[in-house]
Amino acid sequence: MKSDILRKAREYEKEHGEEIKQDHRPMFHVTPYVGWLNDPNGFSVYGGEYHLFYQYHPYSTSWGPMHWGHVKTKDLVKWERLPAALAPDQEYDEQGCFSGSAVELPDGRQLLLYTGVKGKDATSECRQTQCVAVGNGLDYDKYEGNPVLTAENLPNGYSPSDFRDPKIWWEEEDRHYYAVVANRTDDGSGSILLFSSEDAFRWEFVTVLEKCNNEYGKMWECPDFFSLGDTDVLIFSPQEMEAVGMEFHNGNDVVCITGDYDKQTHEFIRKKVQAVDYGLDFYAPQTLCTSDGRRILIGWMQSWETSTFKPKDAQWFGMMTLPRELQIKEGKLIQTPIMELKQYWENQVSYENVQVQGYKKLSDISGRTMDLTIHISPEEGAKLYDSFTIYIGENKDYRTAITYSPDSNTVLLDRTYSGFPYNVISKREAPVRNNAGEITMRIILDRYSAEIFINHGEQVMSTCLYTPQCADGISVDAKGTVRMDVDKHDIVVS
Ligand code: FRU
Repeated sequence: MKSDILRKAREYEKEHGEEIKQDHRPMFHVTPYVGWLNDPNGFSVYGGEYHLFYQYHPYSTSWGPMHWGHVKTKDLVKWERLPAALAPDQEYDEQGCFSGSAVELPDGRQLLLYTGVKGKDATSECRQTQCVAVGNGLDYDKYEGNPVLTAENLPNGYSPSDFRDPKIWWEEEDRHYYAVVANRTDDGSGSILLFSSEDAFRWEFVTVLEKCNNEYGKMWECPDFFSLGDTDVLIFSPQEMEAVGMEFHNGNDVVCITGDYDKQTHEFIRKKVQAVDYGLDFYAPQTLCTSDGRRILIGWMQSWETSTFKPKDAQWFGMMTLPRELQIKEGKLIQTPIMELKQYWENQVSYENVQVQGYKKLSDISGRTMDLTIHISPEEGAKLYDSFTIYIGENKDYRTAITYSPDSNTVLLDRTYSGFPYNVISKREAPVRNNAGEITMRIILDRYSAEIFINHGEQVMSTCLYTPQCADGISVDAKGTVRMDVDKHDIVVS
């Protein structure tokens, strides 16, 4: 049953979303139909297609009462818009349908598990509960038994007002659904709670899977829990993090904890804590598993801290990252662009073993929608070079710089000259492997963003790029002498 609130949102997005010109959006990154987008939600396989929902406020380019926007795709590159799936139209979600996840039920319906928010005003304390909606991939009915998880399901000392972002999965081994849900203890410190259910409607508390203990930020949002080979992986997004070396920056971060999970005792033993993305715009990622067993992650390519700064006259704001395939190698999280992207490659330009000294414009390579790989090695017999920079989105006014320094083993992303008329952080550094001056950087450009995959996905740096599209040059600059291989493909999705 469609409520008036949902009907109004669907009419509004159709009318105003269709006004937005295709080339005023990224070519293959998901943006809202119209208005505001934050977290990816319900990223899942349903009926043989990939569905993605998103935190959505159609009526402005600012965060507001949360709806769920909806898109789907066959190949994770070319997306099709669907009407908004959820609107805040019930007493238990009157303040918003916050983040959540999706699963296909045995009867062929799709179940959405999301957070309903209620009563956040001066007179009433905010309550967050977990709620269910069931549908056919297009229209969803909220379950009459909602909410399905409330404060009553929480152990003592856990928060009824910070209780959100359930991520559901089916566990074949004991034939149960499980969900990880974000919460925090009385001291404000984040935690991830595990719940289980036989049918995805009736839920019970299982255990506290992980705890922040005031070490990695405060509240932990948007948990996801899955295995990659024989490693178990917990990813979540802490608020109020204090910087830790180059690994974690101040503010909202994304953390990956690898470890061992015992499916019988539900105990998770932490082994390694690492960052997921070292760039400027990345938050609240969610994963799915494809039918051929690949674990794919998609994130919100935006930082909360800079989300009030948007391009003038924007009709949409907020976009997703390119979906990335995850692997674990020697305990390390590796991320690579989904292989389906190659189906959209056109106009290859490549050269090998070119000597570069100083500044060089790549005159036969330009554009803002491309897949560009540059491999650098030191010149034999020469002194190790000081640094190597790739400039993207370059013209006489603008350029975004990606600089590798072999001495310090760092890559610096610098968007100082990338059109942000605000006093915001414009640089961030990633620690990279000590490799005697050899490095590979694969850069995915899509009009308003750049995602840099370093050394075959050992580090990733994501950033929005709101410069004019005519800033489309690519150049390099070697302080010293290097050997360079370049392989460029335009990406063309029509
Ligand atoms: C993370 C988050 C979630 C919440 C949603 C609200 O970005 O704060 O915890 O569900 O955004 O839009």
